[in-house]
Amino acid sequence: MRRPFIAGNWKMNLTQSDCRSLATDLAAGLATSEGCDVAICPPFVYLETVLNAAAGSALKVGAQNLYPEPSGAFTGEVSAPMLADLGVTYAILGHSERRHILGETDAQVYSKVKAALGSGLLPIVCVGETLEQREAGRTNDVVSTQFHGSLGELSEEEFAIITIAYEPVWAIGTGKVATPEQAEEVHSNLRNVIESRYNSSVAAAVRIQYGGSVKPDNVTELMAQENIDGALVGGASLTPESFLGIVHGAIGQ
Ligand code: PGA
Repeated sequence: MRRPFIAGNWKMNLTQSDCRSLATDLAAGLATSEGCDVAICPPFVYLETVLNAAAGSALKVGAQNLYPEPSGAFTGEVSAPMLADLGVTYAILGHSERRHILGETDAQVYSKVKAALGSGLLPIVCVGETLEQREAGRTNDVVSTQFHGSLGELSEEEFAIITIAYEPVWAIGTGKVATPEQAEEVHSNLRNVIESRYNSSVAAAVRIQYGGSVKPDNVTELMAQENIDGALVGGASLTPESFLGIVHGAIGQ
């Protein structure tokens, strides 16, 4: 049984006081929800504020990126040991906005994953095709190539710590959610690719989140699919009502 995992990606949104009050409301609202892992990922500058607001609750905190080197002359960057030192649990790596807007490659994502693992952070690694790639019938190839390039060199022990987020680029922030069947097809194919690279028990254990316009009113049917184990949520993670609605919808409450 894979434990559901809902993560909120706040992207480059909110002020410090917004972050404090959203995290406080979520921490309070989660007190009763068991059976699901829940994390929120604020901008770097608000991590400490959010960590303080979430302290003592079931809510975990993640970063949205990191730099693969531990320290040194890398102006403007933030390392995995710094995040671990602060008490951060997760790191979203290889988000499509980083791949497409900032040109991040699979090899760079892999080095970030290694750095995260080396500091005890739990990576959430994103893969997903563009609309053009989907229309050209290349979805499974693209996702499989991203998996091999970003994760395929990990040992079985390292891979066991990873969460994967399948996020079709055309569904992110567009309101155009993949149908449960479209998402399930990719998740199930990805699990087969993982089984071929590792083995069936590793493939059965890894959690694969879906991301792209997840809302309280579509999460239940997505989660009902055999190979969808959670959600990576952008826009709908920015208010307590919609994010808690997604958490409750995911665990059928
Ligand atoms: P969205 O973003 O829920 O706003 O579509 C998802 C994501 O980018 O992780």
